[in-house]
Amino acid sequence: MKPELSALVEEARTALQGAANEDAVDQVRVAFLGKKGKLSQLLKGVAQLPAAEKPAAGKLVNEAKGELEDLLARAQAAAKLRRDQAALQERLDVTAPGRRHVRGHVHPIRETTDTILRIFGQLGYRAVTGPEIEHEFYNFEALNIPRDHPARDMQDTFYLTDDVVLRTHTSPLQIRTMLEVKKPPVKVVCPGAVYRSDSDATHSPMFHQVEGLFVDEEVSMADLKGTLLAFARKLFGPEVRIRLRPSFFPFTEPSCEVDISCVTCGATGRSDVEGGPCRVCKGTTWLEVAGAGLVHPNVFKAVGYDTEKVTGFAFGFGVERLAMLRYRIPDLRLFFENDVRFLRQF
Ligand code: FA5
Ligand code: MG
Repeated sequence: MKPELSALVEEARTALQGAANEDAVDQVRVAFLGKKGKLSQLLKGVAQLPAAEKPAAGKLVNEAKGELEDLLARAQAAAKLRRDQAALQERLDVTAPGRRHVRGHVHPIRETTDTILRIFGQLGYRAVTGPEIEHEFYNFEALNIPRDHPARDMQDTFYLTDDVVLRTHTSPLQIRTMLEVKKPPVKVVCPGAVYRSDSDATHSPMFHQVEGLFVDEEVSMADLKGTLLAFARKLFGPEVRIRLRPSFFPFTEPSCEVDISCVTCGATGRSDVEGGPCRVCKGTTWLEVAGAGLVHPNVFKAVGYDTEKVTGFAFGFGVERLAMLRYRIPDLRLFFENDVRFLRQF
């Protein structure tokens, strides 16, 4: 029985070498493994053997069957591969026009941040960055916001531990920079993400700020206002106006909020598309874009600066607010939903 089975397997191997495609391979399968195939014929012979020889013979037949199935499977796969390759070659039209790749681009918030840094760069400011996970010393304490002082409630904070927070503003960079630059003048801008437990059309739990700090001798509110106006004009054009409203921050004195005349509605307060009040400035013709003021003496003390000699101003812009004005976006949450239909417009 054994020699016959080996011969059968060899015969199948030869037949498969001549099989040009999947159909031909299948014909070989029928010829050898089919109901009336060559292996079935041999099996009939097994039935006629004496009972004692049957198990051994059956085992041999099964082994041969396995070997045949293996050969067929490999031949089938090879035939399919040949067919796929042929199909590919047929379709490769070297004269067809090239396929266009979709080009990505910078996110509008990044683009706005870069533009802000470039403008302040032209005004002589150096850019520095710092950690988003911040010690409360830099985020609060050294900024004249003592522990258990109600001023800490101005910013709804994400606490990681008792002393470690997700920074609520970029102002800790004021402290980090002054501790590093031991002697003024200091002139830096600090971009970065900040976090607060806030959420509506003009407040997002993660947003971006650009902090500015200028420390020298005899720096005044007039210098601050001139700088902010120069910046606003570079960003929005010569027509734009700014307004400083008295405010309070523990780390500046005096303090102010900085408003920019709404460029979305041309400071009319009305939406020309919808007819109602402008959605960005809510009909007020102004949008708050930053907090600012003259650096508080307690902040200078915290970093070891001589409060008799040095003065300075600081400001913190909300990047999303500036981007809303720049691109006329009524809801800042659109910036973070990552809907490509929105992002592709920029
Ligand atoms: C501050 O964060 C101060 N550190 C700013 C400052 C710096 C004052 C230096 C004085 C000296 P305020 O919480 O107002 O201030 O935030 C500053 C700006 O960030 C706001 O004017 C606004 O434009 C933006 N902003 C505040 N909260 C959000 C928010 N949840 N989503 C988006 N933008 C916000
Ligand atoms: Mg504010």
